[in-house]
Amino acid sequence: MLFLIIIVFLSLFSSASTTSSPPYTPTDYILLNSGASSNTTSDDEGRHWVADADGDDRYSNTSSFSSIASYLEPSVTEVPYMTARIFHGDFTYKFPVSPGPKFLRLYFYPNQYPGLDMTASFFSVTANKYTLLSNFSAYLVSSASPPQAFIVKEFVITVGTEQMLHVTFAPSPNSFAFINGIEIVSMPANLYTGQTYGSILLVDTNYFFELENTTALETAYRVNVGGRDILNVDDSGMFRTWSQDGDYIFGAAFGVTPPYQPNTTIKYTEATPVYTAPEVLYETARTMGPIASINLNYNLTWVFTVDPGFYYLVRLHFCETETFLQYINQRVFNIFINNHTAVKGMDVIGVSGGNGIPVYKDYVVWVPQSVNDLWVALHPQTREKPQFYDAILNGLEIFKLSNWDGSLAAPNPRPETVRSTQKHSEKKGKFLKQKSVIVGATLSIIVPMVLIFVFWLRKHLLRTTEALNRRKVSPSLCKHISLADILTATNNFDDALIVGRGGFGNVYRGRIPGIQHEVAIKRLNSKSHQGENEFWAEIEMLSQLRYINLVSLIGYCNENNEMILVYGYMVNGTLRDHLYNNDSIPLPWKQRLRICIGTARGLEYLHSGAVQRIIHRDVKTTNILLDEAWVAKVSDFGLSKTGPVLMENVPITTMVKGTFGYMDPEYYRRLQLTEKSDVYSFGVVLFEVLCARPAVDTRLKEDQIGLAGWALKCVENETIEQIVDPYLQGKIAAECLRVYVEIAKNCLHDAGVERPKMRDVLRMLEFALQLQETAETKHTVIDRPHAIDDVV
Ligand SMILES: *[C@@H]1O[C@H](CO)[C@@H](O)[C@H](O)[C@H]1NC(C)=O
Ligand SMILES: *[C@@H]1O[C@H](CO)[C@@H](O)[C@H](O)[C@H]1NC(C)=O
Ligand SMILES: *[C@@H]1O[C@H](CO)[C@@H](O)[C@H](O)[C@H]1NC(C)=O
Ligand SMILES: *[C@@H]1O[C@H](CO)[C@@H](O)[C@H](O)[C@H]1NC(C)=O
Ligand SMILES: *[C@@H]1O[C@H](CO)[C@@H](O)[C@H](O)[C@H]1NC(C)=O
Ligand SMILES: *[C@@H]1O[C@H](CO)[C@@H](O)[C@H](O)[C@H]1NC(C)=O
Ligand SMILES: *[C@@H]1O[C@H](CO)[C@@H](O)[C@H](O)[C@H]1NC(C)=O
Repeated sequence: MLFLIIIVFLSLFSSASTTSSPPYTPTDYILLNSGASSNTTSDDEGRHWVADADGDDRYSNTSSFSSIASYLEPSVTEVPYMTARIFHGDFTYKFPVSPGPKFLRLYFYPNQYPGLDMTASFFSVTANKYTLLSNFSAYLVSSASPPQAFIVKEFVITVGTEQMLHVTFAPSPNSFAFINGIEIVSMPANLYTGQTYGSILLVDTNYFFELENTTALETAYRVNVGGRDILNVDDSGMFRTWSQDGDYIFGAAFGVTPPYQPNTTIKYTEATPVYTAPEVLYETARTMGPIASINLNYNLTWVFTVDPGFYYLVRLHFCETETFLQYINQRVFNIFINNHTAVKGMDVIGVSGGNGIPVYKDYVVWVPQSVNDLWVALHPQTREKPQFYDAILNGLEIFKLSNWDGSLAAPNPRPETVRSTQKHSEKKGKFLKQKSVIVGATLSIIVPMVLIFVFWLRKHLLRTTEALNRRKVSPSLCKHISLADILTATNNFDDALIVGRGGFGNVYRGRIPGIQHEVAIKRLNSKSHQGENEFWAEIEMLSQLRYINLVSLIGYCNENNEMILVYGYMVNGTLRDHLYNNDSIPLPWKQRLRICIGTARGLEYLHSGAVQRIIHRDVKTTNILLDEAWVAKVSDFGLSKTGPVLMENVPITTMVKGTFGYMDPEYYRRLQLTEKSDVYSFGVVLFEVLCARPAVDTRLKEDQIGLAGWALKCVENETIEQIVDPYLQGKIAAECLRVYVEIAKNCLHDAGVERPKMRDVLRMLEFALQLQETAETKHTVIDRPHAIDDVV
């Protein structure tokens, strides 16, 4: 596919506002009217758009061309929507910009263009290292409910010292990409990302979220609560648009919008600088209403549809402007985000310092796969007996945060939910209200029926729980083992048969009738927080995971409140047993490499080959088991989590699962768990294998205690060879060592996004093994063969 890099040199324009100039003037301000043949100005106060026409030689040898829409809907402006650039191959715009955060706005008008079928346009868009859209269909997005004539996608991307913003359009196979307009506007540093640590609370925890400038954002919603739409040219200089909140209010309880106070002046502060949001945002608000008894009985709630599986930054803007509100403890309220308490006792005057002083609060919330909504709800706080049982909100911004691999992309709306014939846009607020009425009516009929059914079912179930439980598990892959057999195998849980202990409980070694090989029996502690549901969920998950490099679940038992898992027993024990503090023969280098490769395969399978994305969370040499043929088997992923997850409601000491010395520093800082956390731990394992020393050795000098830090320092000082396992000295081919160390080093990169994927780690390890083998065939064989050396 043609990959062409084009440098677009564009001069900067200052916004020529006719009236008072906005408080912020962007240093970078680029407006590109794709497909247009001449420079034009748009209707919004004559913003100057630069043409992006075919005639230019930068397009001479690309498979892109310009096109003009056959029809403009009444709500659609000519600039930038009438012309488009169409791409039949990959194409990169290269915008020179200053370092710092930028808004990148992409304008799409997926209507009719001569000779093009917009329903067949699917493409991806990346900007620097971020994936903004993937297999995106502007047509499907615009025709989903509520239908939109055009689409504006707004992103926040921080450009580093490279001072370039590369925006690449890549059509999906047999498809084409298009764009109508591109806008780049810089913003003050630390406006959204890169704020001081401690200013963003992670909802439902006591922890702060560190929103670094390496995270890209996508604006999901920007709302002027209780007020009118704010046009881009009326923003504080960054051309953000703010929409009314009516469409998002849940239920019939709309609260009230206090009358505009003509004498108010908005007093910006150092904490809330003048560019934060325009004055009009703070001049209007929505409150619950004047009647306390009503307010106490409802939540003032907004509901926003969001893409699941992402963190969201929720910024709430407040300002008290009503003249009777001057003191603390007059209007105090609680804020809930997705039904979790974000703040107890928000007192706007208390936080801002006075009437007319604006203030904003930031929260980050994780929206799991099963949830499609983001709820923001307010309710009066009564404990401190404030003067008014009421709540207030002036504005709200919601951003999607890029995930661990720098992606913001979400699937297109499913075609069946797309109603392309529906011409008039149905407001979401009304839609929700109708739905709740119907739900209410339906519930009153259904609930009694359900209750009757539940009683019947309960009675029925009690007799057949065991049978049902068995049926819950995927057939044949995993068998039920009777407690009697377990008791026999473990000699009534004889301590002498214990081969492992952990927070979850003990592991016993034994033989079970009907199973040929020895088994490891994991008896989960009934006191552990793992409930019955989790136990079943785990069996369900584990029994679907069959892979040569994973320890496999053979069976389970849950009689008499026991929760027992039975795995194959690994004769050669853990990898650590063969590295240090033991009497066994040291493993030869190639065998170590093969074990690392096997482990990498196991992890790669968990990350992307399995039914669900699974993050191990506790990769270490004691969790890598070796079978009789020295095949590496990753174990203890039973308590792993799927997707990026957050531990909820767990005290700090046990909050972060994982082992000291192996733990991803980023996970620790941000509590955001990703596949890259496993990659980090695996990097520690790689150095442990190379150096044959523990990840943490407190007997050593301070800078050597942690292997990760020490090894990186040695790599930097080019002294790594000095800390290689003495047994391996002179046995590792130089090229192989160089590649191996490079992989391990990259795995330990401080920033998760910079670490390689497990797939790449695997590929490079295989390459390292190849280098070793090539070197050995060229020179004398230096590796001493081990028992069964050739099996991976
Ligand atoms: C585009 O064509 C010009 C000559 O017309 C050539 O010099 C240049 O290398 C080509 N660029 C690419 C990326 O193919
Ligand atoms: C459009 O405007 C840019 C920037 O002012 C200028 O460099 C360019 O020559 C103009 N193009 C046309 C076709 O007028
Ligand atoms: C991003 O943040 C880091 C500190 O976390 C800072 O050193 C760097 O200058 C920032 N980059 C930009 C382009 O603002
Ligand atoms: C892109 O999405 C469409 C429709 O959702 C789907 O049919 C197609 O297979 C997808 N293509 C790729 C490459 O994912
Ligand atoms: C607003 O200010 C004007 C004078 O500046 C004053 O006459 C008027 O009473 C004030 N209105 C209110 C509601 O305070
Ligand atoms: C919040 O609670 C309401 C009512 O209990 C429920 O309908 C809604 O789905 C919940 N929202 C989320 C995001 O969990
Ligand atoms: C308000 O929302 C919170 C959080 O979802 C919920 O616990 C509470 O019951 C709600 N209150 C009312 C009156 O609906």
